[in-house]
Amino acid sequence: MLHHRLASRLLPLLAILFSAASASAFHEGGVASCKACHIMHESEDGAVPSFGPTGEALLRGANGSEVCLNCHATDFGAVLGNDPLAPPPERGGGNFTFLLEDDIYDGSGWGGGPGGGSSGPIVGAHAGHSVVAPGYGLYADPDRSVAPGGSYPSSELGCPSCHDPHGNQNYRMLYGQGQQTPDGFVYTTDAPDAEGIALQGPAENVSYHTAYQRGWTRWCGNCHGAFHTTTAQAFQHPVEGPMGTTKQDNYNLFNGEDDPTGGNYATAYIPELPLQDTGRTIDSTAGATATSEVSCMSCHRAHATSAPYSLRWDPNVIYLKDDGVVSGSYAIPSPYPTTSQRALCVKCHWDRARNHGYNRPCVQCHAKGMGGM
Ligand code: HEC
Ligand code: HEC
Ligand code: HEC
Ligand code: HEC
Ligand code: HEC
Ligand code: HEC
Ligand code: HEC
Repeated sequence: MLHHRLASRLLPLLAILFSAASASAFHEGGVASCKACHIMHESEDGAVPSFGPTGEALLRGANGSEVCLNCHATDFGAVLGNDPLAPPPERGGGNFTFLLEDDIYDGSGWGGGPGGGSSGPIVGAHAGHSVVAPGYGLYADPDRSVAPGGSYPSSELGCPSCHDPHGNQNYRMLYGQGQQTPDGFVYTTDAPDAEGIALQGPAENVSYHTAYQRGWTRWCGNCHGAFHTTTAQAFQHPVEGPMGTTKQDNYNLFNGEDDPTGGNYATAYIPELPLQDTGRTIDSTAGATATSEVSCMSCHRAHATSAPYSLRWDPNVIYLKDDGVVSGSYAIPSPYPTTSQRALCVKCHWDRARNHGYNRPCVQCHAKGMGGM
């Protein structure tokens, strides 16, 4: 019985492992690497993973996420730094360390709790994806039982919800169409295309950053649908598609509130407000073209940030200089370090935002209806 079960689960997996050519030497290590994650036992075919009484794979940790964090918490990308006030270098995904904050609310009477609308606090759990790893002090989100806009259960959320623990050829080993998580969730879209920076070495900067190329909004949509595009959501906004010439020009000319129309296409790109583009590379500094698209990644990071909802900037402050001040949480470095810099919405919307929105956070008014009203 056990042998039959083992063979039926093991053989397809071994086939995948030996055909995979993922970017990571460790994750393409084949059978030799099983024991880094699995508790093994001897059988006639050599060492194989052990299974518990209900057929679950026995892991070197309470669950899959804890296994990943054994290596990835403070090394190989360092996705869970020890100190939320001194996070490891940013490599694109954000950092789970901000989930450990007690409060990330820096607003002025606006924007507390999921969905906004009241005044703080905003607990660290809303810094982003609450992966469940009790051994690392990480628990399921206290306020959301499922993914907003979808049904994936928060209690199951972990690294193997998004990354294939056995490696694959996709960007960062993310799941693609037809691939299944250990808890049985099946992805319905292709994995997103991107190029990423090295997991060890310098942090992202204007000429060294994830190059988002294709499919990002639809990929997040596996669990969230086309979030922000229905009236069920507090902030309504387009989440995919080309930007249009006015928004392109805004993006390219905006060089901070002190120089809002003095920038240029060749150097307009900032990793704090990335555009999806099939031709983008990790060192490209050029701004928006007719093919540049808005995606979930324009405004959010994948893991967590010290702004609410894994946003790339704090939506509840009027000026970015006020990030971290009220809560004492980590202040996200502003790409435009002038004291008058508002939310990065203005880089895409300067033509309209230049003559209003200086006294409240944008999302306080643009919170309901198309783009807000
Ligand atoms: C990077 C860590 C890691 C490595 C390396 C690894 N596994 Fe796994 N494996 C996991 C995780 C995590 C799960 C899912 C456990 C769960 O949540 O049920 C899993 C599940 C399994 C399962 C259960 C069926 C399934 O797909 O859910 C089998 C069988 C298995 N692994 C075999 C292997 C074999 C054989 C190797 C070596 C060739 C290997 N694993 C290498 C992490 C790993
Ligand atoms: C035994 C240590 C170890 C464990 C356990 C481990 N990893 Fe890794 N992982 C590595 C190493 C080493 C690399 C390559 C680092 C580099 O490129 O500098 C890597 C790379 C990665 C990458 C980047 C791959 C790419 O193509 O860029 C991801 C994503 C990743 N691991 C996710 C996971 C997940 C999810 C788990 C748990 C299921 C896990 N890892 C468990 C050691 C580990
Ligand atoms: C133009 C910027 C932008 C884009 C693009 C965007 N978001 Fe958001 N998102 C926001 C802002 C701003 C908030 C906070 C709204 C608030 O506080 O009222 C938010 C909040 C959220 C929340 C929490 C909502 C709640 O009710 O608490 C989720 C979930 C979310 N976004 C998912 C997504 C997904 C998935 C995508 C892509 C399909 C996406 N977002 C694209 C700006 C954006
Ligand atoms: C495997 C399913 C899954 C995928 C894929 C996924 N999410 Fe989520 N997401 C969840 C779940 C479950 C929650 C609710 C639990 C929580 O908030 O941690 C959530 C919550 C969120 C929140 C609210 C976080 C908070 O702290 O309140 C945001 C924002 C979000 N997701 C954005 C994204 C974006 C952007 C992507 C694509 C990069 C994405 N999600 C991909 C499952 C997923
Ligand atoms: C909701 C989906 C989701 C979950 C959950 C998730 N990741 Fe990721 N992860 C991503 C995406 C998407 C990227 C690519 C981010 C980018 O380049 O903007 C990424 C990037 C990474 C990277 C590359 C370094 C970086 O910071 O970008 C590593 C390593 C990694 N993840 C490991 C993990 C580990 C370990 C866990 C669990 C503790 C985890 N991830 C949980 C979606 C997820
Ligand atoms: C005090 C409330 C308020 C604040 C704060 C605010 N807006 Fe507005 N915004 C409005 C109103 C009302 C309109 C519609 C009237 C108009 O067209 O001028 C509008 C219009 C817009 C439009 C054009 C909408 C359309 O349908 O053409 C954009 C884009 C916009 N705002 C962006 C922003 C940005 C970015 C911020 C933050 C820097 C911001 N707004 C802050 C109230 C506000
Ligand atoms: C990456 C660029 C980008 C960012 C960042 C961005 N937007 Fe937009 N926004 C767009 C695009 C593109 C449209 C759709 C315009 C169209 O269809 O003509 C849009 C539409 C809108 C509209 C509807 C009116 C209009 O001009 O069409 C409002 C209001 C708005 N955005 C507010 C915001 C607010 C508030 C933020 C920050 C939380 C924000 N946007 C961030 C690109 C962006």
